[in-house]
Amino acid sequence: MIVRKMEEKDLDQVCQLEADTFSRPWRRKDFEDAIREKYYCFYVAAEDNIVLATAGLICSHDEADITNVAVLPAYRRRGIARSLLRQMLAEAKTNGIKAFTLEVRAGNLAAIQMYESLGFVREGLRKEFYDLPCEDAVIMWKR
Ligand SMILES: CC(C)(COP(=O)(O)OP(=O)(O)OC[C@H]1O[C@@H](n2cnc3c(N)ncnc32)[C@H](O)[C@@H]1OP(=O)(O)O)[C@@H](O)C(=O)NCCC(=O)NCCS
Repeated sequence: MIVRKMEEKDLDQVCQLEADTFSRPWRRKDFEDAIREKYYCFYVAAEDNIVLATAGLICSHDEADITNVAVLPAYRRRGIARSLLRQMLAEAKTNGIKAFTLEVRAGNLAAIQMYESLGFVREGLRKEFYDLPCEDAVIMWKR
């Protein structure tokens, strides 16, 4: 498995994974913009050109928001998200990013434990932040 920047050739698989994973999926145009925009930094974990996982960063000065973290269901619990995020965060640090934040559904214990295992800590709660279904968001930071 390799971790590399997302490319145009990945977009069919990326959009399918996104649509299968999230209730408000990003559209193809959003990912096309993300590949082009200077302040976005999107990655895939891939094996033999099969996209196993995605993750992205939206950067602002020396901080970045983590977004669109998803792993194919059949490949979960094999350490793929953790290694994808480790590499993404390490490259961002070398580019001057000093702090990372994200929001996650309060009931998404798998994701919360994964972020905690990477050193993220809970710093806040946004009431009823999500819809489809309505749920609070936990705000996490790694500084
Ligand atoms: C959350 C998600 C990205 C985790 O991806 P993954 O590749 O399975 O995670 P990893 O195998 O790297 O797991 C790393 C750690 O996270 C925690 N974890 C992951 N899945 C877990 C689960 N189902 N239950 C409990 N802990 C879990 C564990 O601490 C795990 O370490 P361990 O296996 O050594 O115990 C994946 O389940 C997914 O795509 N979920 C749907 C989309 C989503 O929730 N995205 C995050 C939105 S903020």
